Amino acid sequence: MSLENKNAIVYGAGGSIGREVAKAFAAAGARVYCAGRTRKNLTPVVKEITNAGGWAKANVVNALNEAAVERHAKAVVAESGSLDISINLITRGDVQGTPLVDMIADDVTGPVLTGLTTNFLTARAAARHMVEQGSGVILGLNSGSANGSPMMGGTGPADAALDTLFRNLANEIGPAGVRVLGIWTAGLPETLSPEKLAAFSGAPKMDDEAFAGLLQHLDGMRMTKKSPTLAEVAATATFLASDRAGAITGTFVNVTSGTFPS
Ligand SMILES: NC(=O)c1ccc[n+]([C@@H]2O[C@H](COP(=O)([O-])OP(=O)(O)OC[C@H]3O[C@@H](n4cnc5c(N)ncnc54)[C@H](OP(=O)(O)O)[C@@H]3O)[C@@H](O)[C@H]2O)c1
Repeated sequence: MSLENKNAIVYGAGGSIGREVAKAFAAAGARVYCAGRTRKNLTPVVKEITNAGGWAKANVVNALNEAAVERHAKAVVAESGSLDISINLITRGDVQGTPLVDMIADDVTGPVLTGLTTNFLTARAAARHMVEQGSGVILGLNSGSANGSPMMGGTGPADAALDTLFRNLANEIGPAGVRVLGIWTAGLPETLSPEKLAAFSGAPKMDDEAFAGLLQHLDGMRMTKKSPTLAEVAATATFLASDRAGAITGTFVNVTSGTFPS
């Protein structure tokens, strides 16, 4: 199996993408520490993994708490002997669907600050152990909206900050044997619901017909005319975390089904 003997932390493992990635990593043989804010969202993921014969543990960690993130990474290494993979799949409080000229500053700067803070803290905690052990992979994910995506509010600037953080960190710690890279994906239908979209946009909740229309519109925006699936994103993350992707670092892999070329 491609992640055999690897110890992984999946931050945001109680969320839509985090859950799928945690399961995929475990299915590939990794020991998976499912980290997140809320235990009740982590417990079912751990159960599903262990029921399938994998290894997983739920750890409550607020990734905005610097000391807690450092403590957790240290505890993982003390318990497992190494930290080989760290992936951040945490929400940032993005607000989308409003023209920038009508937005308030907090809605634009909030996702930048939250996304940069949790990604910096989780990546730094992992990097400190990985540099010492001489190997490891740090992964992130954003929507690839840094280069001209309208109506995305703070998402574009937040994505740009993460793209740059990952590229520069990859440069700094590559010589120590640590890869730093990410995935761009956008609008995964299985993760969307009328409730989630209303929370993102502040607009009234869509009815079923409008929601179905939106999913169709998302399909139509792709080069393949088919939106990416959670399984495709999780499979890409599993590959990028594996030694088979050993020559890939300092980049973001475009898993948008061609929403934009890159
Ligand atoms: N879904 C998509 O189509 C899509 C596309 C492009 C990019 N993204 C990005 O991918 C990431 C994950 O998206 P998602 O749809 O999986 O989101 P989600 O379902 O809302 O899950 C996010 C997870 O992050 C956890 N979290 C939030 N703040 C945290 C903190 N301070 N410390 C630890 N954990 C925290 C949440 O924990 P709780 O269980 O406590 O809520 C939740 O489990 C987000 O950054 C999103 O912007 C998503």
